[in-house]
Amino acid sequence: MTRTIFSAIVPSGRLTLGNYLGALRRFVSVQHEARCVFCIADLHALTTDHDPRRLCQLAEETVTLFLAAGLDPGVCVIVRQSDVPAHTELSYLLECTAYTGELNRMIQFKEKGRGRPKTRVSLYTYPVLMAADILAYRTTEVPVGDDQRQHLELARDLALRFNRSYGEIFVVPEMSPAIVAARVMDLQDPTAKMSKSAPYDAAGTIRLLDSPDVIRRKIMRAVTDPGSEVRHDVENQPGITNLLEILAACLDENDPAALARRYQSYGALKKDVAEAVVAVLDPLRKKCADLAADPAYVNATLRAGAERAQALAAPTVAAAKQAIGLGTL
Ligand code: TYM
Repeated sequence: MTRTIFSAIVPSGRLTLGNYLGALRRFVSVQHEARCVFCIADLHALTTDHDPRRLCQLAEETVTLFLAAGLDPGVCVIVRQSDVPAHTELSYLLECTAYTGELNRMIQFKEKGRGRPKTRVSLYTYPVLMAADILAYRTTEVPVGDDQRQHLELARDLALRFNRSYGEIFVVPEMSPAIVAARVMDLQDPTAKMSKSAPYDAAGTIRLLDSPDVIRRKIMRAVTDPGSEVRHDVENQPGITNLLEILAACLDENDPAALARRYQSYGALKKDVAEAVVAVLDPLRKKCADLAADPAYVNATLRAGAERAQALAAPTVAAAKQAIGLGTL
């Protein structure tokens, strides 16, 4: 079986440090190891109220960030989801495999949609579209942050169920979790995930394109915990633990608890976190500005990505259609 890595980011807001540490930088580090497809999942951004113009802009900014972070379109496939009909086609077949019972349990729907009459139907069904994104490419591994665990379980369940019912069509994917910074928390509320849908200037959210000054300010003002001891302790010291996770990820170290022992004060820790984040994001921001000046390159990347992705996904979707009874006997 070909080792195949697939993952995606939804352009529903400007990307955050959480998206980078939990996902994007990991895409960059695995791109030479396997067949890789990385996707700008714009269809998923239609599940809640959206502004069409802003969505286009955010999708473009997200591709640019993929390139600026170091994804090489000569090495991996970079694709915008809406450019590849295989995703939506397979999604419907998987909707005919999924149960309402399992979609009712999905956290996003429970928190944002259930019981509200104006919830878009797509907010209910998008976990199935996400399963289609993954299964269409015969994906073996999915590098994602911790918040995607439930979605990955659904994708696995649907693959297994489809295979049991209609024949071995799909590969059952494995989640590849981040070792550190798998769930970067909001700097102002370290019990909540740092989210790109926070208000743009929210003090607790670091955006990938924030200037060094803004990054430093946000980190120096991060909420810490009562006491003064620097310890990695999610339960009792969520603020400090979050900063240690961010620092470890930025320094490419795998042991945030060991890092804690180097610090005697919160202030010193914050200073180092701020400089480490600036060192990681500043080159990204500069590269992004260079690429923004070359929209032809970004567009060519998407055109080539769409063609390659459709060619990779189409045979699996055709096999699934045939297996489920949509072909000739
Ligand atoms: P999205 O767009 O919310 O997030 C994109 C990626 O970033 C990770 N992430 C985080 N990691 C650590 N800390 C955080 N605070 C943080 N916030 C976000 C997410 O875990 C994710 O890896 N439904 C998905 C997108 C998707 C997808 C897919 C992913 C669509 N199809 C197929 C994998 C495979 C989503 O909403 O991600």
